[in-house]
Amino acid sequence: MTGIGTSLILGQTVELIADPFHASPDATIRYRRRGGVRIHNGRIERVGEADALCALDPTVPVTDFGDSLILPGFVDCHAHYPQTGIIASWGRRLIDWLNDYTFPEEMHFGDPSHSRTVADRYLDLCLANGTTTACVYCTVHPESVDAFFEAAAARNLRVAAGKVMMDQNAPDGLCDTVRKGYEQSRALIDRWHGRGRALYAVTPRFAPTSSPEQLAAAGALWAETPGVLLQTHLSEQIEEVAWVRRLFPDSTDYVAVYENHGLTGPGAIMGHAIHLSDRERRALAETGTGVAHCPTSNTFIGSGLCDVAGLRRLGIGVGLATDVGGGSSFSMLTTMRTAYEVSQLRGEVLHPAQLLWLATVGSADVMGLTGVVGRLAPGADADLCVLDPTATPVLAQRTRRAESIRDLLFALIMLGDDRAVRAVYVAGQPALGAVPIGNLDPDSRRVR
Ligand code: GUN
Ligand code: ZN
Repeated sequence: MTGIGTSLILGQTVELIADPFHASPDATIRYRRRGGVRIHNGRIERVGEADALCALDPTVPVTDFGDSLILPGFVDCHAHYPQTGIIASWGRRLIDWLNDYTFPEEMHFGDPSHSRTVADRYLDLCLANGTTTACVYCTVHPESVDAFFEAAAARNLRVAAGKVMMDQNAPDGLCDTVRKGYEQSRALIDRWHGRGRALYAVTPRFAPTSSPEQLAAAGALWAETPGVLLQTHLSEQIEEVAWVRRLFPDSTDYVAVYENHGLTGPGAIMGHAIHLSDRERRALAETGTGVAHCPTSNTFIGSGLCDVAGLRRLGIGVGLATDVGGGSSFSMLTTMRTAYEVSQLRGEVLHPAQLLWLATVGSADVMGLTGVVGRLAPGADADLCVLDPTATPVLAQRTRRAESIRDLLFALIMLGDDRAVRAVYVAGQPALGAVPIGNLDPDSRRVR
C-alpha cells in the first residue's frame, strides 16, 4: 500500500457502527459535527473529534473540508466496465438489450488499447462519483482483463474483476470453450489475484450463456483458488428465469443450477436476485451466497423490484451496485436514491443508514473485504469520499433545513450526484479534489 506518512482530514464524519438492518438504524450512526480522520501509511488510524486529533501532533498536515461530510469511498459490487459506452441505450428488455447493444459493444475488447482507453474512462468516472472499489465484469477477452487491472493499478484502486466465461447463446466472437475459459481464467488469476490491491473474480456470465460443462469448470476453478471471488447474474427478469428452466430441466430452480455446479457460497456474488422462490432464498442464506442489488438497472431494463429488506432479514449479505451499463448511472448516490424508490414501491422504506450501509459495508462484505474497505474505522484502507452538502443550489437550500444527520444524509442521497463529490482519497492519497492546507502553525490551528 502506498501513502507513506501521516495526515489529517477534517469535516463532518459519519460512521456506521452496527448493521442498520439488524439494529435501530438511527442508533447505528455515529456522527461528529466537527470530526476528523487521521491517516497513517494509507490506512485509517483514528476517527475522532477534530480538536482532539489536531492536538495529537501539530506537525501533521491538515486538510479541512469544513461542513463537508467525510464517508468511506463507495463500493460498487457489480458493474461491467466494457458497457461504459452503451449506458443509457433505449428501449430494450434484458435479452434484446444484451443482443442489440451489449454483445456488439463487447466484441471490441480483444483490442488491448481500446480496452485500456475504456477502463481508464470507467475508473475515472468511478472516482468522480466517489466510488473507490468495484467488482467488475470484463469481457470474454483476456486482454480486457489485463487492461482493467493495469488501469486500476495505475490509480492504486482496490478492485475485483474477471474474464467473462461464455460458450453458448452468444455471438461466435464472444464465445470461449470449456477448456479455454478455464485456462485463460486460471492464467489471469495467477497473473493478477493478490497483486497490489487486485482481486480476481471467476465470472461465468449467467446460466444461459454457459454450458453445464462450463459452469462445472468455473465451479472447479473457484474451488481450487481460495480467496478468489465468484460473480454471476441470477433471476433478473421473468423471461430469463423461464429460459433457464428450459435450458436446465434437471435443476429445481435457478439457484439450484448454480448450487449444482459449485457456484454458491461465501465470496459468490449474485447480481440482481429479484424473482426468487422461498427455497432459493433459503439456499442463498444457508450457503452464505451474497447478492448485488442493482436498482437503477432493475428500473431501467424493467426487471422488477428486489426485496432487499427481506433478503437481509434472512441474513443474506447484500451490497449495492450500479450494474453499469444496464444501470443508468455511475453514481452510487443515485443508486442509493433508486434503492430507496424501489423500496417505496415495495411498501418497505429503507432508512438512509441502510442505504449508506448497502453502498459501503454491505458491498465490502459480499466482496470478502470486511474491515478492509467500506468503513470509517481504524485499520481500514483510507479510501474516502468527501461530500459537499451545498454543492448545488437545490442541495444547499434543502440541506440548510436538515435538523438531523438522518435528514442530511437523506437529502444528499436524494439530491446528490457527482457534483456533490468534493474530494476522494485512495489509500490515503488525494485522488480528486483535495487541496491540502499544509502544516498549520499550532497557535493558529483553528477549525473553520
Ligand atoms: N445478464 C447477463 N449478462 C448481463 C449484463 O451484462 N447485464 C445485465 N444487467 N444482466 C445480464
Ligand atoms: Zn450485470
